[in-house]
Parts: sequence; structure tokens; C-alpha cells
Amino acid sequence: MICLFLTVFAYVFKTGWTGVNERTFIAVKPDGVQRRLVGEIIRRFERKGFKLVGLKFLQASDEQLRDHYRDLREKPFFNGLLKYMNSGPVVAMVWQGMDVVKTSRRMLGETNPADSLPGTIRGDYCVEVGRNVIHGSDSVESAQREISIWFKEHELVCWEESTEHWIYA
Ligand code: RTP
Ligand code: MG
Repeated sequence: MICLFLTVFAYVFKTGWTGVNERTFIAVKPDGVQRRLVGEIIRRFERKGFKLVGLKFLQASDEQLRDHYRDLREKPFFNGLLKYMNSGPVVAMVWQGMDVVKTSRRMLGETNPADSLPGTIRGDYCVEVGRNVIHGSDSVESAQREISIWFKEHELVCWEESTEHWIYA
């Protein structure tokens, strides 16, 4: 019994909440805020059926952005990326739902808007890779790491969704 508990605990600790409790970090970047896309982006995630569990509007610090994008620090565009992300406020969000990490990435489109299909956020609302309006975590592990950079545990809200029964069988 203890073994089973420890196995489950280790799994949850390593992968984060799974199933309908999977979470991802989504941010409307400074260009998305300036271009009044916040409402449209939230609308898409709400209508899809995902659940908002964290939301804040802030000017990101240099330290926060360096941590967030630390895997890209060797890239030639890294300094430009920090400047872009620091150029105005962002909307930081945590969305929850089944396969939310993978599905969100598909909703966003490709990194380069030119490769993004119409119907995706980047396919519909932007043109250049350096102004691609939205961020989404690329894996469950990245999502956990990013959520902890942008949110404190008590800032995430557990709430009962009255429509859950109509979204999940
Ligand atoms: P994000 O992390 O922002 O959701 O974007 P992503 O996974 O689709 O792409 P990633 O490789 O993580 O790159 C992060 C952000 O860096 C900018 N970028 N610029 N100039 C360039 O070639 C270039 N490549 C990437 C983009 O803003 C990209 O979203
Ligand atoms: Mg990325």
C-alpha cells in the first residue's frame, strides 16, 4: 500500500497533474497586448473547453524572462527576444484540461507565423517570428517549470466547473 502511494506520488511529482488536471502556461506577449488580442485569445481557450486557473497582467522582469527562456540563451536571437518580451506588459495565464499542453500548441500554430495555418492564433494574427503574439509551453515538464516562474502556488485557483460534465465524458 505504501509502495503504491509512493509510486503514484513520484509519478505525479515528476509529470505534474495529468488527465483533466494537466496544466499549461500561456502568455499573451507584449505585441498581443498592444494589438488588443487578449480578449480574442482568452475567448479561444474558453470556447475550446479549457479551464482558466491563473491569470495576471504584468511587466515581466529581465530575471524572470532569462529564467523563462533559459534553454534559448545560446541562440543568436536571445537578446532580441528578451527586449521584445520586456517591451510592454504581458498577460500570464495557466489553463487546465485534458491534453492542454499539446492542444494549446496546435491552437497557437508554428513558431514562425508564416508556417502557421489559418485558424491558429499565429496563423490568423501575426506575420513575423519575432512578433508572434503568444507563448505556450512545449511539454508538461516545461509547463510545470514555467508556471512556477510566473505564479506562486496560492495564485492558482482550484474551482469547480459547472460545465465539466458537458466537456468530458
Ligand atoms: P514560445 O516559447 O514563445 O511559445 O515559442 P516557440 O516554443 O514556438 O518557439 P521557441 O523556439 O521556444 O522560441 C521562443 C520565441 O523566440 C522567438 N524566436 N525568434 N528570430 C528567430 O529566428 C526566432 N526564433 C524564435 C519567437 O518569439 C519564439 O516564439
Ligand atoms: Mg518555446
